[in-house]
Amino acid sequence: MSVVALTRLSQRNLLDWYDEHKRDLPWRSTNDPWAILLSEILLQQTQVSRGIIYWRRMIETFPTIQSMADSTVDTVLKAWEGAGYYSRARRLHALSQTVMLPSADGGFDGSLPSSYPALLSLPGIGPYTAAAVASIAFGQPFACVDGNIKRVMARQEEMVDPSAREVQVWADEYLIQRRPGDWNQALMELGATVCTPQKPRCHRCPVQSSCKGKNTPTAYPKATKTKVKEVTLWTCVEFDRLGNPIISQRPQDGLFGGLWGPQLNEGQVPNPSEEQRFVGIVEHKLSHRSMTVHVFTSTRASSQRGHNPLDVAMSVLDQKVINLIRANEHVIPPHEKK
Ligand code: ADE
Repeated sequence: MSVVALTRLSQRNLLDWYDEHKRDLPWRSTNDPWAILLSEILLQQTQVSRGIIYWRRMIETFPTIQSMADSTVDTVLKAWEGAGYYSRARRLHALSQTVMLPSADGGFDGSLPSSYPALLSLPGIGPYTAAAVASIAFGQPFACVDGNIKRVMARQEEMVDPSAREVQVWADEYLIQRRPGDWNQALMELGATVCTPQKPRCHRCPVQSSCKGKNTPTAYPKATKTKVKEVTLWTCVEFDRLGNPIISQRPQDGLFGGLWGPQLNEGQVPNPSEEQRFVGIVEHKLSHRSMTVHVFTSTRASSQRGHNPLDVAMSVLDQKVINLIRANEHVIPPHEKK
């Protein structure tokens, strides 16, 4: 006879577990709302181990909202380089400028607002980030919902495909009003370290007794397939006489908006020629796109002035392209000097 778990999830067990086992993450030893906001935006797109690296770089470059508002969007993109989802960096810059405005002009007089609706009104802040910042930085009773929490809920309730609304209702129901920030983080921490997608560590779970899905945890929730589009591109990178690539800034909207790079072309990949030498292929994966770039370089030095990649923000894909050519300089004859 199988024993069905009928108990409610023990909030006490989970919070005690969090207090004892939580990871020592740098943004957990501050109550600066700006530092917490940066961490929550970064953690939506990167794993914690990489998130720490980018968070440190961002907080060192922009220790205050004011420091970001006083910077250009290009400086923000440079600091964000490598983190991906660059529109988030652009919106963060817009957010900093809105917050610095006087309240008479629709701003917040330089302080990140503490209320959920005011946070939600800011550029780049959706329901998850508003709830995370309101609860973690300001102790406001708002329940977060992210992928980790959805998984914990789906397993606890043995639900294959809970809707966003159902997860939110569940999270609202269990929210601990006294410690909303710790509670939200305890659920996310459980999902990230114990109730993991592939091999959950159920023997270490502090709320196993109430888990209805514990016999077949990986059946909940059902896996969602993300459609990945395969894209083939080609580029022919020219260099100036100093060895700097000819790159330009991409339009702000669109892929890698505001970042610098060589022109990426769609369509028929050309054959190598006297002027265009084939160097190799760069593969690059984004969440919804798998990109294959055929890389050529011009055999002649350009008369235009190039840019030093260290001085501008470039995507990892564009960096791979430039690095591939530079790594092959020994097999590619030096550019003919005109
Ligand atoms: N994922 C996103 N934010 C988090 C946090 N504050 N703690 C644990 N996991 C998270």
